[in-house]
Amino acid sequence: MSKNAFTLRYLTRAAAGVPRDLASSVVSRLTPIKPTVLIYNCTWVCDARCEMCNNWKHGDRKSDMTLAQLEPAMSHPFWGHIENLNISGGEPTTRNDLPEMVELFERHLPRMRKIGINTTGLTPRRAIPMLTRIVTFCAEHDLLLSVRVSLDGIGDIHNQVRQVERGFDKASETIHAMQALAEEHPNFQFGIASTIFASNLEDAQNILAWARARKLDIVFNMLRFTDAMLNNKDLEATVGFHEREEQFMRSFFLDRVQEESVFSGQAFMYLHYADMISNGYKRTMPCPFRSQGLLLNPYGDLHYCENSKAIGNVLTTPAGQLYFGADNLAHREEIKHDVCPTCLSPCQVNVGAMKQFVPYAKFLLRAYQVKHDPSRHLETLPTPQP
Ligand SMILES: C[S@@+](CC[C@H](N)C(=O)[O-])C[C@H]1O[C@@H](n2cnc3c(N)ncnc32)[C@H](O)[C@@H]1O
Ligand code: SF4
Ligand code: SF4
Repeated sequence: MSKNAFTLRYLTRAAAGVPRDLASSVVSRLTPIKPTVLIYNCTWVCDARCEMCNNWKHGDRKSDMTLAQLEPAMSHPFWGHIENLNISGGEPTTRNDLPEMVELFERHLPRMRKIGINTTGLTPRRAIPMLTRIVTFCAEHDLLLSVRVSLDGIGDIHNQVRQVERGFDKASETIHAMQALAEEHPNFQFGIASTIFASNLEDAQNILAWARARKLDIVFNMLRFTDAMLNNKDLEATVGFHEREEQFMRSFFLDRVQEESVFSGQAFMYLHYADMISNGYKRTMPCPFRSQGLLLNPYGDLHYCENSKAIGNVLTTPAGQLYFGADNLAHREEIKHDVCPTCLSPCQVNVGAMKQFVPYAKFLLRAYQVKHDPSRHLETLPTPQP
């Protein structure tokens, strides 16, 4: 399906939820509200060994929660407000029960409207049938599904970054099959995701051109370091950005703002990343995890977000008890004070954007200005989030 049609469908559903979102946003200032966004890293097991992520070093299938363990943890009205679910890892398709996992979530998350899955696409023979089954299931249950295959270079550069032989050819096979599937299913959006850093910076334009030639939607991730999500804080010293990468990425992101529709989630994110590179990494984007998100990791550890400590384990304590626990909520306040102001996480940022009407309207205005004249970007910089 075309990106525009999918976006329209998504926006229509988001618009239907606006009155509830506005009410929740007011209520969340007075009292904690239930989560609406959930990231589930379903395993750290991985079929790649990327230079910028350490998840593959932590794979331990025996410790992963089984579906028999996940089901009771999810069987509670506490989860009833989740609207957006992202399944990531590690490599989700290394779990043979991934389709059943999606079905389990559908049973227990009555308000869920969109599922996102990130995959390497490196094992096409396993991934293609699995993802096809998930696409069909979501179509039958009126769920929007977005899948992205990661691609960090064209040809050998991808193989080097991912440290996988013939990785580019394998990922291409999955990309090709998923793109064909998306043509047939209006509920399914497919695209690729690229993480640019020193190793593949010179290939960023090639990746863009390759995606464009194939009419593939592409999102560029900003490099970041987080232990709860990527186990990679210790890589910052070796892989982190220097001035060359910062200069390149700032102008690369501004170029993307020029091309993207201001209504696309990507333009929102890219403009804010350009802001952060320019303003000394002060965050100006909203984030739904500040007030209504959770991150569940493979062994059952629960975090408020990718920068929170584990607030407990769902195998031993109901998630609602952990989420609303006074000590844990105090920890969330500390994160908001200490970490949010410079956090680079893009996780579900578009959800956060649409739930905050006034900041979103301000963004639209700025995006128009920058599109018209990127050299005036610095004049448009907003004040950082409180
Ligand atoms: C952690 S992976 C998990 C899913 C799957 N294994 C994959 O690679 O697509 C999810 C996304 O995070 C991106 N990523 C990896 N390391 C990153 C980093 N240091 N900063 C930002 N994004 C990163 C990956 O490229 C991928 O698109
Ligand atoms: S980015 Fe994805 S594929 Fe690469 S090591 Fe991390 S989890 Fe594995
Ligand atoms: S630390 Fe980052 S991910 Fe966590 S709530 Fe703040 S902005 Fe969101």
